[in-house]
Amino acid sequence: MNIAMVSAECAPIAKAGGLGDVVHGLARALIALGQQVEVFMPDHDVLRRDLMGERHVVCRDLRVLFGQEWINCHVDRSEVDGIPCVLIDAAAPRRFFARGRIYGEPDDATRFAFFCRAVLTLMQASDRRPDLIHCHDWHTGLLPVLLAESDVAPALCHTPVCYSLHNVGYQGVVDPRLLSQVGLAPASLMTAERLRDPTHADAANLLKGGIVYADVVTTVSPRYAWEIQNTPQGMGLQDLLRIHEDKFGGLLNGLDERVWNPLSDPHLPASFDPEHLAGKAQARDALRARLGLGSGAKPILAIVSRLDEQKGVHLLEFAIRYAPRRGAQVALLGAALDPRIAARFERVQAASAGSADCRLVLAYDEELSHLIYGGADMILIPSLYEPCGLTQMIAMQYGTVPIARRVGGLADTIHDANFSDQPFTERNGYLFDDPTEDAVATALDRAFALWSRHPDYFRQLQRNGMRQERSWHRPAQRYLDIYRICSHSSPY
Ligand code: ADP
Ligand code: GLC
Repeated sequence: MNIAMVSAECAPIAKAGGLGDVVHGLARALIALGQQVEVFMPDHDVLRRDLMGERHVVCRDLRVLFGQEWINCHVDRSEVDGIPCVLIDAAAPRRFFARGRIYGEPDDATRFAFFCRAVLTLMQASDRRPDLIHCHDWHTGLLPVLLAESDVAPALCHTPVCYSLHNVGYQGVVDPRLLSQVGLAPASLMTAERLRDPTHADAANLLKGGIVYADVVTTVSPRYAWEIQNTPQGMGLQDLLRIHEDKFGGLLNGLDERVWNPLSDPHLPASFDPEHLAGKAQARDALRARLGLGSGAKPILAIVSRLDEQKGVHLLEFAIRYAPRRGAQVALLGAALDPRIAARFERVQAASAGSADCRLVLAYDEELSHLIYGGADMILIPSLYEPCGLTQMIAMQYGTVPIARRVGGLADTIHDANFSDQPFTERNGYLFDDPTEDAVATALDRAFALWSRHPDYFRQLQRNGMRQERSWHRPAQRYLDIYRICSHSSPY
């Protein structure tokens, strides 16, 4: 099959969080299954050019109608890790994606609406047509709407669209005038069944548009699929998701085991696997040296996270104070987009600067993240909600035991050391229910006690997590089945 993946991110060249990892991992696994995949993405100025292949010009004169204006676009082709990528932006000086970051601009909705229209204009102009388009998150929600309701790409009007929800907390709620700008008719689209936002009646909801118009809608874990249909985690879209439930389901993300592999990770001082954990002790020493943490028989509790309300920032702040009092060390790597949250963590960083048991690195640092996953003993993930969560899966791959809230994909991938109904060989972490300091403290205490009193059993938890299968192979096969079903060809 010829699959067009349309996304704002693709790791490692453009990654703000798990979406980038997923697009990269899924695309590679589909290619390994013999499919043809192209990733269509914005030509961000922050693309990691050192990690991509040579760029070839596709065209410099793609004319995209946006509002009343014809905007000239440049399109380049490149490759990342064997995945063909098509990079699109308005030509200079008009560039929409030259802002020094992937998201967080006041005109994000306009930029990504333009991107959707440009992708379809390009596909219409090309003689190579995809058999299926796979769109991701609110940024690309307008694409299936444009396909069905505008004249931008008549040649593709029967091309099926699979739409994946990675985070219903971000919906792209916008002024309906944006719809006219991309060539849609707001009057007919601003209805309860179509794009009208369920909470703000005078606003359009781009994520909703994707859900309504796509042929099939997925989200990134079975538990999150249930939560967003049946609990306030649906953030206002519960009814809509129930209406469309016959085309909606949850499919757990995989992990790219080539990127996240303690046997071959170039960022670790030594390799290790479940049978040979000595290399993990070396990673721990290297991590302590790198961060300036003190030595001694103390477990290291890691936090690797976007610092965002979703991730339970108040609980992270609590744990940073609490864990050293209980004889553990804390290594946090986190970046905040919201300046108020950034300022809060800068204060915590300043307050803990004198301690040898706590280090906060307030930055985005891919390389350091590998050393933290490799060298830590445990990782804390107290998310208020978590569609899938890759950090717990990466951590387990490196024998770092997750302590997490029982929500979304965290609940689907972590089996509690004490309270799971799974056999002992499947237990791999700690779960708690309430988003409270008490609940975090109790879970941390359980983990710290096992680490110090029953190190053999703690090592067993580490090994269980490392041995579990979480590659992209199986999820990619399931996506392929879904693609085949919605493109009406046989799944077999
Ligand atoms: P989300 O996509 O909601 O941020 P996930 O758990 O799905 O959460 O994915 C997070 C990804 O981003 C992981 O690959 C994690 O290692 C990475 N990550 C998060 N924060 C940082 C950071 N400050 N530096 C480096 N990598 C980070
Ligand atoms: C989102 C979610 C995260 C998920 C990731 C990849 O960023 O917050 O839980 O793992 O997408 O699907």
